[in-house]
Amino acid sequence: TLESLREFQPEGVPLGVVGWPVRHSISPPMHRAALEVLAQSDPAFAEWHYGAYELRPEELPEGVQYFREKGFRGINLTVPHKVEVLPLLDEIDPVAERMGAVNTLVFEDGKLSGFNSDGYGIEHAVEEAFGQGLAGRSILILGAGGASRAAAAQCVESGANSVLIANRTVAKAQTIAEALATGTSCEIRAVSIDAAADEVAPGTLVINATSLGLAEEDPMPIEVSDLPEQCLLYDMIYNPEQTPFLREGMLRGYPISNGLGMLVHQGVRSLEIWSGREVSARAMRSACEATLA
Ligand code: ATR
Repeated sequence: TLESLREFQPEGVPLGVVGWPVRHSISPPMHRAALEVLAQSDPAFAEWHYGAYELRPEELPEGVQYFREKGFRGINLTVPHKVEVLPLLDEIDPVAERMGAVNTLVFEDGKLSGFNSDGYGIEHAVEEAFGQGLAGRSILILGAGGASRAAAAQCVESGANSVLIANRTVAKAQTIAEALATGTSCEIRAVSIDAAADEVAPGTLVINATSLGLAEEDPMPIEVSDLPEQCLLYDMIYNPEQTPFLREGMLRGYPISNGLGMLVHQGVRSLEIWSGREVSARAMRSACEATLA
C-alpha cells in the first residue's frame, strides 16, 4: 500500500512489481533468480532487490512519485495499472504505444520511461514452444482485452501473415483491429468468437488471451473439436495443470503450450532493459517452476 511504501527504506537498487492484488505474483522469485546469476559475474547486481508492491488504482500517481524518490531502477506493472500509467510517463516506447499499455517502467536521469515486454514475451515463447516465432503465421487470438491487444500488436510487429481477433463482444475486437490496421501488410480482422472456428485455416496458431480457463469450471474459449487440423494452441494462462482448452487440445493431438514461457520472456526483456545485460531465461523458468510446484 501507499502507507508501507512511504515507510519503505530502500537498500541497494530497488526494483519490483506493482499491482492490485499482487500477493500471488511469481515475478519476485523469478527476477531474484536471474539477479543471482547476474551477480556471479558482476557483484553490483547482488545489491539489486526485487519486491512486490500493492497499490490501488487511484494510488498509482503518488506511488510512482515514491518509486522515483526512493531510487527505484524500474517497475513491472500488472493489473490494473498498465493503461492508467500512460499519462504519468515522460517517454513511451513506440511498441508500447501501439499496445496501448506499459508493463515496464524505467527511472533514469530524472525521467520516467515506459516499455512493454509482453509482446517480446509472446514472440519468444511461441518460438520456444513451436520452433518458429510469429512471422509469416496465420494467427487467431481469442479475447479482446489488454492481453489480446499486446498479442495482436506483436503479431503485426513480427510480420504475421494474418491476425483474426475473436471476442464475445465483437466491438472490442473491432477496436483493436482498427487501431492496428494502418501501415501494415498484415491482414487484421475481427469476428465473433462463436464464428471464429469457421474462418480458421489448417496450421493456424490459436492464442487464448481470454481469462477463460483461470477457473476450472470456466467454459471453453472455443471448441477445440471445431478447429481444423495442424493448429497450434497457445494459452496465456500458465497454470501448470494446463487449462481445459490445452488439455482438450493435447487429447486431440495438437501441439500445445501454456503461458509460462511468455511470463519468463517478458521478465527476461524487462530485466535486460534495466540491467543492460543478457539475462538467463533458464534461471527464471526454473524459479517459476519451483514456485508453482
Ligand atoms: P486482460 O487484461 O487479461 O486481457 P480483460 O481485459 O478482462 O483481461 O479481458 C478478458 C477477456 O476475456 C475479454 O476478451 C472477455 O470477453 P468480453 O470482452 O466479451 O468481456 C473474455 N471473457 C471473459 N469472460 C468470458 C466469458 N464468460 N465468455 C467469453 N469471453 C469471456
